[in-house]
Amino acid sequence: MDFDSHSEPSPSPTRDGLGFFDRLGTQFFRKTLVFQHTGAPRNEDVPESIPGSKWQVADPDNVETFFQADHKRSELFLQSLRSGCLGVFLVQNSEMVAYGWTTQPGKGRPPHLPRWAGRTQSFWIFNCHIKSSFRGQGVYKHLLGHLLKQARERGPEPVHVDAFPENVASRRAILSAGFVSCGVTRTLKLWVPGITHLPLAGTWSPEERHPERN
Ligand SMILES: CC(C)(COP(=O)(O)OP(=O)(O)OC[C@H]1O[C@@H](n2cnc3c(N)ncnc32)[C@H](O)[C@@H]1OP(=O)(O)O)[C@@H](O)C(=O)NCCC(=O)NCCS
Repeated sequence: MDFDSHSEPSPSPTRDGLGFFDRLGTQFFRKTLVFQHTGAPRNEDVPESIPGSKWQVADPDNVETFFQADHKRSELFLQSLRSGCLGVFLVQNSEMVAYGWTTQPGKGRPPHLPRWAGRTQSFWIFNCHIKSSFRGQGVYKHLLGHLLKQARERGPEPVHVDAFPENVASRRAILSAGFVSCGVTRTLKLWVPGITHLPLAGTWSPEERHPERN
């Protein structure tokens, strides 16, 4: 499948002013900005379809169909389903346009956050991705709406999502989808290039203010 590779957005030195050593440092230590939603999605954020494409709830069959050529992602997504996570896909002519995942309260944890994240009594959205040729058209905002709707069908607990400070598009879309700021996480990671990004320990300060967007 021709789906662009999923990786952490790489900070651009010209946009965020980070130097080489700071960028190297983000491999071992990462800060994310947390957002929270306590209500239901607005109708306009959960369109039935986007011209020519359809939303689908992730299940083992469609994971295997869409990611048969991408063993790593297929295994990751099947594991997410086994641990009770909820997933949504946007598909156009059998092509994957977007995907996103949510943990359920007390079940699973976003893989980029340490163990404390598995104990929060909230839904936590993670691993969202929009195919590059579909970006800038509000697809992420709608994906968040669908993930929020899916969570609300299961419970009233808060829904959280986090983003890297330099990921301006993500921060804007999250706020546009009705989320509000809810602190900052800091995570120490074990990084072995090409092998693992393992979150070891870290904190979430729910009251900490978000830095300005660049
Ligand atoms: C970040 C990402 C999810 C955004 O998806 P998208 O479908 O393009 O986002 P949307 O079109 O819904 O909204 C983007 C918002 O940012 C703005 N935006 C888009 N590209 C931007 C850019 N390069 N710089 C700044 N703002 C940008 C849009 O105007 C919109 O803001 P608005 O709602 O205030 O008008 C997508 O770029 C992506 O998949 N990136 C790689 C994976 C990733 O970073 N995932 C984030 C998980 S937190």
